[in-house]
Amino acid sequence: MKLSVTQGNIADFQADCLVVNLFEGVTRPGGGTGVVDRALNGAIQSAIALGDFTGAADTSLVLYTNGTLSAPRVLVVGLGPSDKFDLPAARKAAAVTVTALSQLKGVRSAGAILNGAGIGGHDARAMAEAFALGGTTAAYEPPRYPARDEEQGLQHCTLVEYDAAKVEAIRTGVERGSRLAMAIGFTRDLVNEPPNHLFPVEFAQRAQRMAADTGLQCEILGEERMRELGMGLILGVSRGSRHEAQLIVLKHEPAGTEEEPPLIFIGKGITFDTGGISIKPSAGMDEMKSDMAGAAAVVGALQAIATLALPRKVYGLAICVENMPDGNAYRPSDVLTGINGKTAEIINTDAEGRLILADCLGYVKKYAPRAVVDLATLTGAIGIALGTQAAGLFTNDAELEAGLVQAADASGDRVWPMPMYDEYMDDIKSDIAQVKNSGTRTGGVSSSAKFLEHFTEGYPWAHLDIAYMALRGKGRGGFQPKGATGYGVHLLTALAADF
Ligand code: BES
Ligand code: MN
Ligand code: ZN
Repeated sequence: MKLSVTQGNIADFQADCLVVNLFEGVTRPGGGTGVVDRALNGAIQSAIALGDFTGAADTSLVLYTNGTLSAPRVLVVGLGPSDKFDLPAARKAAAVTVTALSQLKGVRSAGAILNGAGIGGHDARAMAEAFALGGTTAAYEPPRYPARDEEQGLQHCTLVEYDAAKVEAIRTGVERGSRLAMAIGFTRDLVNEPPNHLFPVEFAQRAQRMAADTGLQCEILGEERMRELGMGLILGVSRGSRHEAQLIVLKHEPAGTEEEPPLIFIGKGITFDTGGISIKPSAGMDEMKSDMAGAAAVVGALQAIATLALPRKVYGLAICVENMPDGNAYRPSDVLTGINGKTAEIINTDAEGRLILADCLGYVKKYAPRAVVDLATLTGAIGIALGTQAAGLFTNDAELEAGLVQAADASGDRVWPMPMYDEYMDDIKSDIAQVKNSGTRTGGVSSSAKFLEHFTEGYPWAHLDIAYMALRGKGRGGFQPKGATGYGVHLLTALAADF
């Protein structure tokens, strides 16, 4: 869906559908909604008076104009109570709009007034950004095989603003929201792609193409380079796969940040997690194509940060590996030596995420980072603790914790702080190596974070366990379409903007 902005009167706009809106409890609509209502001889007021439409959030009403307007249809979108209309509500209202328009099979073009910027009195730029973000992410369609016909359904939505003084701010907002939504779409595509299409080398090539398009620097380390660097944990996990592991390093270094220490993101990119020799049960194993969602969120965030030209130095590392059982695979009881000489005893080859992240946590020491945040679909147990409502946040740094909580509020990508008591370390003490990769069943989320902490090297660090945030499948409920959510892209972008 293409989104654009024009100056004019909504009632005169030519499109398959006009979109106006209503705050809950309003009985006599004003602004653009009032103009359209008068043209319809009060049809909107009638729907309110008859009790069919209240303006409640998540609701909408379709009216047919029968020649009273140049457009054949009007969609009225409920905004909920005006005192609760904040940025998340504005994003959701835009998503409701686009979803309702997509369900009207004959609608290919629409003209809409901007929610909240008129009667609502909100900042027009911020509201336009929220509209573009909510609307474009709702219009997202997962890849299909063969590819579907792009010419179907809603193609174009125009924001029609009457007040010429606001048009420039709305254009800026739409541009910003669309750039972020594009990056979220890139991440969702990566997560949705099947693992025979998206293996580590393919992931790296897509990241490289994106970097070339957006002006990011991109460096790709293959297994030969990893061997020279002593990344024995990554290489151990990768041994069972026919696909070569790839470490992708993206750098956003805007002019004037030469002296600045980088903010670094690291993403777990297991392109498929069978569990390896400690093989997973068959039921639900298909969901493990999303075990690269942390890496996908990191490359999406770097795309957003570059296209929004955020004025700070940010690096993103995506570590892409496939975890397979094989005659050459690593096994339970192996001892692996990682970067900087640190050792790990393998108890369970299905606890592979922490191993590949550990080598990356050691690798970034050379950059003397301002802070490091890793994102990983690391444990099933985080889903037992928090469900699909928040990622688990583990950190040893109060300032970074506050920054992430603030970025979560701003983005709607929720995080919830989890404990990092030293005693959890007892669960992963090994008799023969420095640590073991799996401990007790109880407290398994915190001991996975303690394992990672062991490999950090003197910088502020936070770990986000996003295992149940990456995919929205059957039984996982929620508003967006089934499949990849793009969780983390907005969160990391907000952190880079404000931390
Ligand atoms: N990729 C999984 C975690 C996961 C589970 C992600 C469900 C998304 C949904 C991870 O590699 C894994 O297998 N973790 C094990 C760790 C255990 C062996 C210590 C788990 O959670 O069972
Ligand atoms: Mn696993
Ligand atoms: Zn995994």
